[in-house]
Amino acid sequence: MSTLQTLLETLEQDDSLRRPEQLRQRIEVLDRIETYLIHGQHQEGEDSALHRRAQAMCADLEATNRELYQSIRRKIQQGSGAGTLFEWVNAWSDAARPLDQLNGIGYDFLDVLVSGVLQFEEPGDRVTELTPDMLFYQPTPARDIFDFISRAKLGEKDVVIDLGSGLGHVSLLTAICTRTRCIGIELEAAYADCANKSAQSLNLHNATFIAQDVRSADFSSGTVFYLYTPFSGAILRHVLDMLKLEAANREIRLCTLGPCTPVIAQEGWLKAVDTPDIDRVAIFHSV
Ligand SMILES: C[S@@+](CC[C@H](N)C(=O)[O-])C[C@H]1O[C@@H](n2cnc3c(N)ncnc32)[C@H](O)[C@@H]1O
Repeated sequence: MSTLQTLLETLEQDDSLRRPEQLRQRIEVLDRIETYLIHGQHQEGEDSALHRRAQAMCADLEATNRELYQSIRRKIQQGSGAGTLFEWVNAWSDAARPLDQLNGIGYDFLDVLVSGVLQFEEPGDRVTELTPDMLFYQPTPARDIFDFISRAKLGEKDVVIDLGSGLGHVSLLTAICTRTRCIGIELEAAYADCANKSAQSLNLHNATFIAQDVRSADFSSGTVFYLYTPFSGAILRHVLDMLKLEAANREIRLCTLGPCTPVIAQEGWLKAVDTPDIDRVAIFHSV
């Protein structure tokens, strides 16, 4: 009997996988079956019936996942999504280790859950050219966003501005989990458009996205500025000078992740809340 057949027989007899809370196990099983199907890790002579059985099993597990995502979306639409999302974060804190590594940044099961819940439409091809100082799009891993939300002490009067917001993960999750107003500024209009559609479909009135170069944006309403290393060099310098001007009028906070953190830590007008750690969101106050 082939390995795929043995796996399917075990799964077909195991009803526990259909329980909504078994999402992590379903993701792992889907991954294993898809590895067999895509990379052809099956034995010669396996018939197409076995493959149809495997595809049916995948469709069944994916349907269970979709039902779960829909139930979380309904809670968010009714304004009670924060508790549910944090239950998943807490339940999975032991499993929050990267599934794979990409430039030192790893994504885990929480990212699968978040993308199922936020349900972005596929954006069209990028049309805006990135100059050498601008970084390509990569979302903040979900576990870092929840860590940011837990540690940033956001209040109702705060306004979070995500500089280079991409598809909007940071602002959308922050808007779901807090009453804080969140604004994303993103150069690529197709990304900002997807983020606005996701906010509308989730009834989030405290998240908006603006298609703009941050260098020409209005920062006057912001109290917390989030940067997941969206740019470096001269653009980062320009934006830090803009933020320093804002800080002359009121206290602001900068929350940073990735290689921009050690650069920003050098700014004399900022003080770190804790010793900055490149693997975690760092929080700075203006002084
Ligand atoms: C590393 S991604 C971060 C995405 C998002 N902040 C997150 O954490 O999930 C950087 C984003 O910054 C955008 N970006 C780069 N330069 C920009 C600029 N000058 N103005 C606005 N957005 C910019 C890129 O298009 C990209 O989507």
